[in-house]
Amino acid sequence: MPPFDYTPPPYTGPSADEILRKRQQFLNPAVLHFFKKPLNLVDGKMQYLFDENGRRYLDAFGGIATVSCGHCHPEVVDAIVNQSKRLQHSTILYLNPAIAEFAEALASKFPGDLKVVFFTNSGTEANELALMMARLYTGSHDVISIRNGYHGNAAATMAATAQSGYKFNVVQTGVHHAQNPDQYRGIFGSDGPKYARDVDDIITYGTSGQVAGFISEAIQSTTALERQGGFALLTRSNQVLLALAAIFWGFEAHGVVPDIVTMAKGIGNGIPLGAVVTTPEIAKVLACRNYYNTYGGNPVCTAAGLAVLKVIEKEKLQQNAFNVGLYLKQRLNSLKDKYEVIGDVRGRGLLVGVELVTDRQLKTPAKVETLRVMEHMKEMGVLIGKGGLFGNVFRITPPLCFTKEDVDFLVDVMDYTLSKI
Ligand SMILES: Cc1ncc(COP(=O)(O)O)c(C=O)c1O
Repeated sequence: MPPFDYTPPPYTGPSADEILRKRQQFLNPAVLHFFKKPLNLVDGKMQYLFDENGRRYLDAFGGIATVSCGHCHPEVVDAIVNQSKRLQHSTILYLNPAIAEFAEALASKFPGDLKVVFFTNSGTEANELALMMARLYTGSHDVISIRNGYHGNAAATMAATAQSGYKFNVVQTGVHHAQNPDQYRGIFGSDGPKYARDVDDIITYGTSGQVAGFISEAIQSTTALERQGGFALLTRSNQVLLALAAIFWGFEAHGVVPDIVTMAKGIGNGIPLGAVVTTPEIAKVLACRNYYNTYGGNPVCTAAGLAVLKVIEKEKLQQNAFNVGLYLKQRLNSLKDKYEVIGDVRGRGLLVGVELVTDRQLKTPAKVETLRVMEHMKEMGVLIGKGGLFGNVFRITPPLCFTKEDVDFLVDVMDYTLSKI
């Protein structure tokens, strides 16, 4: 493990077993644990986490792609503490500098007319709001979403989500799911225009011909659609509102400017914060009623958001994500040459997936092996995540301060673990 000069304070709280018992008794029974013996994480510093015994782990999951600047980044913590000491909450009904400053700073990062910001508490809320605005603005209800996407767990977002494991059997209306432009498993391979035509066909055959919009996780569409100019085709031919869920302006890679952008997770570095950015014209659709969110844009969250934005710029974290991400993909691709079980390595920057298969030809998901590798890597001090429809894709989404030394440690541990399974 790369050296790191930090020792967390001693932990005096309840044991992991005690917490697990309470969790099983009092909390959501649907929550899964990745590991046989769930980890009790009690401290964090930048790209490292510490358990109750002070053992250090390299965090390559970032609280599900959320800890962008690093755990407990001092400047973000200072912003939260300072704002909490002055005023935690007043509601949007009163003026406060934190929300105004952050809205201005965020808007300055967007091109064209994308200048109006709505704050929410989560990604789900941001996507719900975006979908509602698209529907109100266009007067159409139908939405196109891409298969395999996840957009949240409320009514409209669960409908837009396209993975059965995240969909409950309740009424979900108005969403048509287009083929996932996934170069590895997608039915059209990397033929972007075919995926775009699928969307076109859905609109022609499955709707009145008018739709409210097209929603996609920016990372989903970085594959075939983007390479073959599929997005340009979509916007040109269908006049749909384009909403791309971006973790940090993922849409910029596509060569199109969406009408609505939603974001959450990394913009707060762990503080509950989501946002929708759109044009003044589209934003106006909410002015005919009251749209109100008690906590959305509260002073503490927006002070944190502004600090995150500043840290990302000051520490050139996007550049770091690009450089270290390239190195990570290079090293993972070398592992792919070495181990048949790695079927695919994909992603952008420090948002990387590694898909395990038991048969490269058939692409049979290697679910058991995925869990086993994660478990062994955890034992060796590296935390990675898991996802995908079949639960056979490692999710590597570390804080953006991740270094090449961290990559070396992660990949060496993965290499060793794969050699043992
Ligand atoms: C792409 C995407 N959209 C939406 C969401 C929902 O965000 P939240 O869990 O903050 O409601 C998530 C969360 O994992 C996500 O990854």
